[in-house]
Amino acid sequence: MDKFVINGPCKIKGNVSISGSKNASLPILAATLLFDKPVVIKNLPRVRDINTMLNLLKSLGSKIILSRDKKTAKIINKKNMKTFASYSLVKTMRGSILVLGPLISKHHQSKTSLPGGCLIGARPVNYHLESLKKLGMEYELKDGYILAKSKGRLIGTNINFPKISVGATENSIIAACLAKGKTILKNCAIEPEIKDLTNFLNKAGAKIKWSGRTCKIIGVNSLNKTEYSVMPDRIEAGTFCIAATLAKGNLQINNFNPRIIDTEIKVLKKFGSKIKTTENKIFIKGPQKIKSIKNIKTKEFPGIPTDLQAQLMVLMCKADGKSSITENIFENRFMHVAELQRLGAEINIKNNIAMIKGNTKFIGAELMSSDLRASVALVLAAIVSNGKSHINRIYHLDRGYEKIENKLKKIGVKIKRLK
Ligand code: UD1
Repeated sequence: MDKFVINGPCKIKGNVSISGSKNASLPILAATLLFDKPVVIKNLPRVRDINTMLNLLKSLGSKIILSRDKKTAKIINKKNMKTFASYSLVKTMRGSILVLGPLISKHHQSKTSLPGGCLIGARPVNYHLESLKKLGMEYELKDGYILAKSKGRLIGTNINFPKISVGATENSIIAACLAKGKTILKNCAIEPEIKDLTNFLNKAGAKIKWSGRTCKIIGVNSLNKTEYSVMPDRIEAGTFCIAATLAKGNLQINNFNPRIIDTEIKVLKKFGSKIKTTENKIFIKGPQKIKSIKNIKTKEFPGIPTDLQAQLMVLMCKADGKSSITENIFENRFMHVAELQRLGAEINIKNNIAMIKGNTKFIGAELMSSDLRASVALVLAAIVSNGKSHINRIYHLDRGYEKIENKLKKIGVKIKRLK
């Protein structure tokens, strides 16, 4: 199993380019199941979760032609597609559940594995199922699978999500594209990745309109041949901004629209960073002394993303004074805390609130990754630790960050991948 060795502390300086968004690519790739005509998706990140989704599409019968750099995929669906999404593919990535909506909508049947829990929480799919049921999907759960069918086309309806869910919003939008009549979804997640999905679908002829958290979809009979370029990854951009803030860095972040992370930029300024932006660049200079902040709370977009909580916590460990962060999205997303404590962090957890003492002098240690964002938080902590850190199980990190060691090396981090 691959691991990283990082020799800290490191100075961060230079340029970094942001890759395509993993969380936008996944629903867009799933939505290609709706198409009879070829679709070309560009700017895919070269990360493991994208391979998993492409393998899932292949297993369903899609032909996939990848460009040499593997960032562009041409997807051509067969006439007779399969509708079986196996446990072996779904279990490795919860995002695989996003094939259920398009399979039902287009092929009126599917056997899709239930994704199961993961380290950051139970992560049920009840809102996906309830919403698709309202659109006309019948289903039963058997042997760990969702056995689903519909009597012909789904039928447009009104759905009010009891809780904001990114995945359930995406699955429902994708499914409603080819439904008969009008669907109105209320209390939707409005993450930029969902807007990217609807931009893609509209480009292909779907009729989707947004107004606040309400999404109106008029079903169409089919979608057109399309090319689409996925948006850049805002969590990757946020992670590099945190790295610069943490390590007194001086970083230029390229090909990224700063407005997408407006909230994060405001927070990093409070930590003391100096930030300037243009249309598609961010210039960030980390402070000599990081200020402490109390009461940061993760929230649905446009709030602070839960996917940056672990990275922000590292920053709080190095801040001058006490900080706190509340995790409002996933009940168990503090797996990184025990590892940060091994580096010397003083963190107390009470329910979903982490209280961080600050002024920590991290000393390099042997560390274990638990999930995608936790792993990158350990990388950040190792960058500002004294001495060598070994970060094990970085396959978690490879799920969502494209060639992170190359990008980090380029900006001054002493990092090596050991196979
Ligand atoms: C997506 C992102 C993930 C991010 C999360 C929150 C992808 C591939 N993943 O995950 O990186 O951390 O949004 O921004 O885009 N819930 C239910 N029942 C459901 C669905 C969700 O109870 O049917 C709960 C979840 O357990 C969680 C909350 O709702 O507590 C939000 O989850 P959701 O927004 O659905 O996250 P994902 O789509 O899984």
